[in-house]
Amino acid sequence: MGPDEETVEPGLETEELAQKINPFWEQPYQLARAVARRWRKPEAKTEIEPTIASTHQEDILSTRDKKNKRELGADSANVVLFVELEDDGSAIYKPVSGEQPYLRHGIEAGTYYQRERAAYLVDRFLGLGLVPPTVIRELDGEIGSLQQFIPETTGSWGVDLSQLQEDLYQLWVFDYIIWNTDRHSGNLLFQGNKLFAIDHGLSFGSECRMFMRHFYDIAAPKQLVGLLEQFLKDDKSKKILQELLEELLSEDEVKACVRRIEHIGSKLIKNGMIKLNEDSIFNPE
Ligand SMILES: Nc1ncnc2c1ncn2[C@@H]1O[C@H](COP(=O)(O)OP(=O)(O)O)[C@@H](O)[C@H]1O
Ligand SMILES: [Mg+2]
Repeated sequence: MGPDEETVEPGLETEELAQKINPFWEQPYQLARAVARRWRKPEAKTEIEPTIASTHQEDILSTRDKKNKRELGADSANVVLFVELEDDGSAIYKPVSGEQPYLRHGIEAGTYYQRERAAYLVDRFLGLGLVPPTVIRELDGEIGSLQQFIPETTGSWGVDLSQLQEDLYQLWVFDYIIWNTDRHSGNLLFQGNKLFAIDHGLSFGSECRMFMRHFYDIAAPKQLVGLLEQFLKDDKSKKILQELLEELLSEDEVKACVRRIEHIGSKLIKNGMIKLNEDSIFNPE
């Protein structure tokens, strides 16, 4: 199940939720200011169908006025703010000026927020439902990523991960596709037994990726194989995703990402698994 309206829309006791999500809520935070790259509004692409250009949740994030915003705690590398929206709904805002520089070779501060959106788009087009809806938006005169806030989440402690093997398998494949270099337990949220993947600002680069765990030689969930098969057959979706990514990433990064989808998709469709010795996943040429 993807993050849906019902999960996050009911009237949120924001203060309470924010306290729950981060007990360091009130702690001061030293801003690490990067030189902000000015955001260029992408030109509208006429060939994109309105139905898939943006979802209802994305529209909420993009259009609802901000009621208030506050900084989250001191344990984040980047500046992270909790935003309450008018007419219900809340989000996590990561402003471009709060992007900590020099975290990864080849990934410049000033681009993380675009990578957050790009990762969400990959998730959405593949139908994985791991990443909360994420848009790019200007708030109080500054551009950044705005991601749907997932309430009442915990870390992995107390969660029976053996029940989540299929989700973790999907996560492994997703992190490979977006070439994520920052997957650790702090970047996973658990809402009961539902897993959410967050914090994708350090993805799509060329530095060595990092996996929390891997599933070589283990049969892939049928649903995942089906999703990849469906996507790879759908030339229109592939083209639209590629065009959307080109507005956010470099040409080379987009090409590499598309190659990885094709690479892992074809392996999983053919073998139903990734074989450690024959097919182990690397960045395909
Ligand atoms: N979509 C979200 N829903 C709920 N909480 C979130 C969400 N995104 C981030 N958070 C909270 O904010 C913290 C920091 O966010 P993260 O994106 O990991 O920032 P950083 O890049 O600084 O590591 C997370 O550990 C989590 O507690
Ligand atoms: Mg993080």
